[in-house]
Amino acid sequence: MSIQAKMIVDKDFVIGNIDERIYGSFIEHLGRAVYGGIYEPGHPEADEQGFRKDVLSLIQALRVPIIRYPGGNFVSGYDWKDGIGPKDQRPSRLELAWRTVEPNQFGLNEFVDWSRIAGTDVMWAINLGTQGIDEARNIVEYANHSSGSYWSDLRIKHGYEKPHAIKTWCLGNEMDGPWQIGHKTAEEYGRLAVESAKVMKWVDPTIELVACGSSGKGMATYPEWEATVMDHTYDHVEYLSLHTYYGNHENDTPTFLARSIEMEDFIRSVTATCDYIKAKKRSKKTMMLSFDEWNVWFHSNEADRKMDPWQIAPPQLEDIYTMEDALVVGCMLIALLKNADRVKMACLAQLVNVIAPIMTENGGPAWAQTIYYPYMHTSIYGRGKALVPLVQSPKYDTKVITDIPYLESIAVYNEEQNEVTIFAVNRDLENSLPLEVDLRSFGECKVIEHLVLENNDLKAVNSLAQPNRITPHTNGNAKADGSKVNASLSKASWNVIRLSLQ
Ligand code: AHR
Repeated sequence: MSIQAKMIVDKDFVIGNIDERIYGSFIEHLGRAVYGGIYEPGHPEADEQGFRKDVLSLIQALRVPIIRYPGGNFVSGYDWKDGIGPKDQRPSRLELAWRTVEPNQFGLNEFVDWSRIAGTDVMWAINLGTQGIDEARNIVEYANHSSGSYWSDLRIKHGYEKPHAIKTWCLGNEMDGPWQIGHKTAEEYGRLAVESAKVMKWVDPTIELVACGSSGKGMATYPEWEATVMDHTYDHVEYLSLHTYYGNHENDTPTFLARSIEMEDFIRSVTATCDYIKAKKRSKKTMMLSFDEWNVWFHSNEADRKMDPWQIAPPQLEDIYTMEDALVVGCMLIALLKNADRVKMACLAQLVNVIAPIMTENGGPAWAQTIYYPYMHTSIYGRGKALVPLVQSPKYDTKVITDIPYLESIAVYNEEQNEVTIFAVNRDLENSLPLEVDLRSFGECKVIEHLVLENNDLKAVNSLAQPNRITPHTNGNAKADGSKVNASLSKASWNVIRLSLQ
């Protein structure tokens, strides 16, 4: 095979409309995500509510459309009522999922206020670990009912006259995992989820619900879990969740860079399982997917094992991301785009300090990690239609995964802006990759810019001392000639080729 890669894109070969919510993220009451992350009263950048404005502006630049909250594993032991009402009357609790102390100084109303400023919607996860049907309906009544009932009037008493109108709700978190507080079998969870779903929608029929899928493709109960849960909940929910984290534990970068292929396989098999239940039920409805936790997560594992318990907001899960992690995140974003017909929501887990694109220093500055950039580029330029990527690329094998294309890519057509954007990763660690893109049906194109994220040191990171060591540059060499675009993709690089159409 030639060493050149080729990509053909055609405006008529559409995978699907990209739901902007695939650029969602996640904030859990874990580590310094909330306290010292988005909320730090007394910080020089804090507003009158204690929200860090430096962090907010980094988030606003990402245009995050939806944020999952308040967990994660945390939610399965959380009583949402601890986080409402006067702050001086809120209890401190032992938080068993992450073995910390939760002071409850930030809760539902603060998160809704904060999300409005951040320009994002709320995806609220309810506790189906230690709580159940009653609390499920109560929280929807508190958040979304107008007035004239106990819980809605309590919200009004707390200073929120207008309902919060939270549209998207997750029915628990990772209930298949033995680590989860209140872990359940698929039967137990399926029954609880459907009964909770019913009463939540009786309180507010406009909401949308996400049922828990497996917490990873490696779970022993996968995909039987999905089939059983869908059997119970199919008619009552709109989405099934998927979660995945990858790490370079073996320091095998060629394999690590190919993990997104497994992610795509995971999406395809969950889709097939949903469609099996659709057929079994003779249903006309198609279940959509919410990939509501995904990222690279492994750098902090050892430090976390040594963490002393029962601290308030300790530095947990503080992965410092390298250049190669940014490439993996780029490939994972492309995997989501390649499945835009079924994946309608996704959450980069998480957003601040905890396995996050944004880091802060308590009392100090905030900065962007390497993974911030592919996330920002796709969120900004990856809106419109995802086009089928007909790709020819040289391939490589590792001991773990075979037939790995050096080129990972997708094209997005934004009709409103009259632009096509190519997102591409060159997985080759040694050589640049010549790429030809044939945009045959689009006519003449012009290169607006070719953004590149690259560094000779794949282990290089951004840090407090060097916050801008890894940032994208615009010196990519893409050139258009009619409806063909040629570029040489640097070794181990993330590329965004923005094209304007005539
Ligand atoms: O995002 C960190 C944790 O990963 C979440 O709390 C949990 O849902 C998952 O296992």
